Amino acid sequence: MANFAIVGATGVVGTKMIERLAESGLQVDDIYMMASSRSAGKVLKFRDRDVVVEELNEHSFDKDIDYALFSAGGDTSRKFAPIAEENGVIVIDNSSAWRMEEDIDLIVPECNRPTLKRKIIANPNCSTIQSVVPLKPLNDAFNIEKITYTTYQAVSGSGKGGIDDLLEGQNGVEPKKYPHPIYNNVLPHIDSFLENGYTKEEMKMINETKKILNLDDDVRITATCVRVPVLNSHAVEIDVTFKDVATVEEIREILRNAPGVVLVDDPGNNQYPIPTEATGHDEVYVGRIRKDISQDNGFHIWCVADNIRKGAASNAVQIAELLESSK
Ligand code: A2P
Repeated sequence: MANFAIVGATGVVGTKMIERLAESGLQVDDIYMMASSRSAGKVLKFRDRDVVVEELNEHSFDKDIDYALFSAGGDTSRKFAPIAEENGVIVIDNSSAWRMEEDIDLIVPECNRPTLKRKIIANPNCSTIQSVVPLKPLNDAFNIEKITYTTYQAVSGSGKGGIDDLLEGQNGVEPKKYPHPIYNNVLPHIDSFLENGYTKEEMKMINETKKILNLDDDVRITATCVRVPVLNSHAVEIDVTFKDVATVEEIREILRNAPGVVLVDDPGNNQYPIPTEATGHDEVYVGRIRKDISQDNGFHIWCVADNIRKGAASNAVQIAELLESSK
C-alpha cells in the first residue's frame, strides 16, 4: 500500500500518469491530485474514486504521501520538489529541472537503478528515454563509440498548447505555443537555443544519454531535434557506431530479446515502426536496422514510442513500481 500525489494532474502528462497508475498493479491507498489555482475544485477519476483537485502550495506535502509524480513544469519542480523531499516524499519528476544534478538519479527502469542518495528521482527527456531503451543492451554488447540522433517529435510533447496549435492550425488559426505554424510544417526547433547553436532539447539528449548509460567521456554524441505535425508518439533516427564489431543480425537478435523493446523490422512487407501504432503502448518499437554504408561498424536504427506514455507517464510509474517491488 502506498499513498500518491500527482502534481500537474490536469495536464497532458498528469492525465496519463493517473491513467497509467490506475492500470498498474500498485496498491494505491490515498491519492491526491494537485494543480494550479485554475483547476482547484475540479473532480478527476482514479479507478472507481472521484478525487477533488487541490491547489499546490507549501503545505501540500504535510500529508502522509509516499510518492509524488510531478509534471507541472520546471519552475514548479524546482520550488516544490525539495519541499516534498523534506517531508519524506519520494518525488519522481518529469521536468528537466533536476536531471543533471550529480546526486539525482536519472532513471529508465530498463537501463539503470536508483541509488536514492536524494529522494528526488528524475524522469529523463522523452526522446532520450526511447533511445536509451534499445541502446542499453547494444552498448553492453558492443560498446558505443558515437551516436547521431535525429528526432521527429509529436506536438503532444509540448502539452495542450502544442496539440491546440496543430489542430487549430488546420483551420488557419495562428499558433500560440510555437513561433511558426506546425500544421503542414516541420520546425527544427524544440526548447530554446543555446550559445553553441544547439537547442536545449538537443543538449538534453546528449547529456542525459551519457548519464543514463554511464558512457565514457570519449563517447561522442550529437543530436538534431525536430517538431513534426504528428499528434502523438516520437520517432528517433539513431545512427550509432560501435567500438566492437557488430552485425545487423546480432543487433536484431539482441533487440528481439531486450526488455521494453518490440522489433518491427520487415521492410519487404512494409513493416516498420510508425507513430500511429506506437500510441497507447509502453514499449519502444524498433526497426529499419541496417548497416550504415558510409562508416565502419555503423548502423541505422529507427525507433518510435508513445512520448506521453513511455516518454513520460509510464516511465514515471515504472520507477514507482520498481521502488515498490524492491521494498
Ligand atoms: P492547471 O491545469 O491548473 O494549469 P500541460 O503541460 O499539459 O499544459 O499541463 C501542465 C500542468 O501543470 C497542468 O496540470 C497545470 O495545472 C500544472 N501547473 C502549471 N503551473 C502550475 C503551478 N504554478 N502550480 C501547480 N500546477 C501548475
